[in-house]
Amino acid sequence: MDKIVVRGGRPLRGEVSVSGSKNAALPLLFASLLTGEPCRFRNVPELVDIRTTERLLQDLGVDLVESAGHVVALRARQLARHEAPYELVKTMRASFLALGPLLAREGRARVSTPGGCAIGARPVNLHLAGLEKMGARLEIVHGYVEAEAPRTANGRRLRGARIALDTPSVGATENLMMAAALAEGTTQIENAAREPEIEDLAAALGKMGAHIEGAGSSAVRIEGVAALGGVEHEVIADRIEAGTFLVAGAITGGETVVRGARAEHLDAFLLKLEEAGAAVERMADGIRVRGPARPRSVDVRTAPFPGFPTDLQAQMMALLTIADGAAEITETIFENRFMHALELVRLGADIAVDGNHAMVRGVERLSGAPVMATDLRASVSLILAGLAADNTTEIRRVYHLDRGYERIETKLAALGADVRREKAGAP
Ligand code: UD1
Repeated sequence: MDKIVVRGGRPLRGEVSVSGSKNAALPLLFASLLTGEPCRFRNVPELVDIRTTERLLQDLGVDLVESAGHVVALRARQLARHEAPYELVKTMRASFLALGPLLAREGRARVSTPGGCAIGARPVNLHLAGLEKMGARLEIVHGYVEAEAPRTANGRRLRGARIALDTPSVGATENLMMAAALAEGTTQIENAAREPEIEDLAAALGKMGAHIEGAGSSAVRIEGVAALGGVEHEVIADRIEAGTFLVAGAITGGETVVRGARAEHLDAFLLKLEEAGAAVERMADGIRVRGPARPRSVDVRTAPFPGFPTDLQAQMMALLTIADGAAEITETIFENRFMHALELVRLGADIAVDGNHAMVRGVERLSGAPVMATDLRASVSLILAGLAADNTTEIRRVYHLDRGYERIETKLAALGADVRREKAGAP
């Protein structure tokens, strides 16, 4: 298995361009299931999760017209199947986003439940309850959600409904928005997630002819239409990748510019970086960060957008391991998202985890060691810590990283980091 080897201690300097957002691109690709017309997406990141989604869609009968560079073009003229198998859903929870579109268009779907995942239970009850309210009949049989939606009097599959989410789930909001786009009548989603990726999905659906109001706010209203058309759409910048590169600049006491990053998508995170002593410049087409000689401790509490993103919690923890003082990190979105803490301790960090709280007492220096990645954001926090540590840090199980970061070692190396990937089997 590949590993990433980082030799720490160099301040990063220079510019890096942010890739397209993984979490925006995935639902967009699934939206192609809603129409028989061509859908073409630009600025799609080259990632394992994108390839997995292409495979899943092809399996359903979608024609993959183009997949090169950062363009993915799809056409779901006619679907061959309506099943998303366990083998694919288990590796990527976002596959569950096939459910809403399949039901809305075909009136039936069989989608594996995602099951447990390293960072917590991550149920799908909100997706299911919402679709049931829209008239779908659902059953869980042998680990699969089997769903059916009989035709309405005028040929639609689902009916509009008022749905109040117990928590503002990103995936449930996306699944329901896609399903509602083809439903009969109006759907109102209350307590909807407000993440920028949801706005991006709504923008693309709007170009396809959907009537959606309020995406990006907690009340989304969708007026169903009989059919949707094709779309040409550019995926928004990846705010999590951008935040990761900003931490890379800050943790090494360097100065980096992340081109294409959008400050309005990272507000809560940027304020914390500033509190920690970094100088942040919000520019028209990017964000510049200048790291402090030593960061200050700041408490962090993750929350749904516009709060501090859970997907940047591990990276922020890496920064706080070398801060002056003690910081409390509270994880409110996922119940088991501190696995990186134990690995950071192997690098000399002083972290005590108690339930969903982590107390990080800053140390003067980290020291390189072999560590193990446990999930996507955890792996990158170990690279960040390695950049600030003495000697060499070796991160194993980097396949997690390839699900969400495009050529990260090349991008970091361009900023002056001493980082390389060792291929499986290399000495
Ligand atoms: C998405 C992101 C992921 C990010 C997360 C939270 C994608 C592909 N992934 O994941 O990177 O970490 O948002 O910002 O966009 N929940 C329920 N019932 C449900 C659905 C969710 O209880 O039916 C709970 C989850 O267990 C979790 C919380 O709601 O505690 C948030 O999950 P959700 O927003 O759905 O995350 P994802 O869409 O899976």
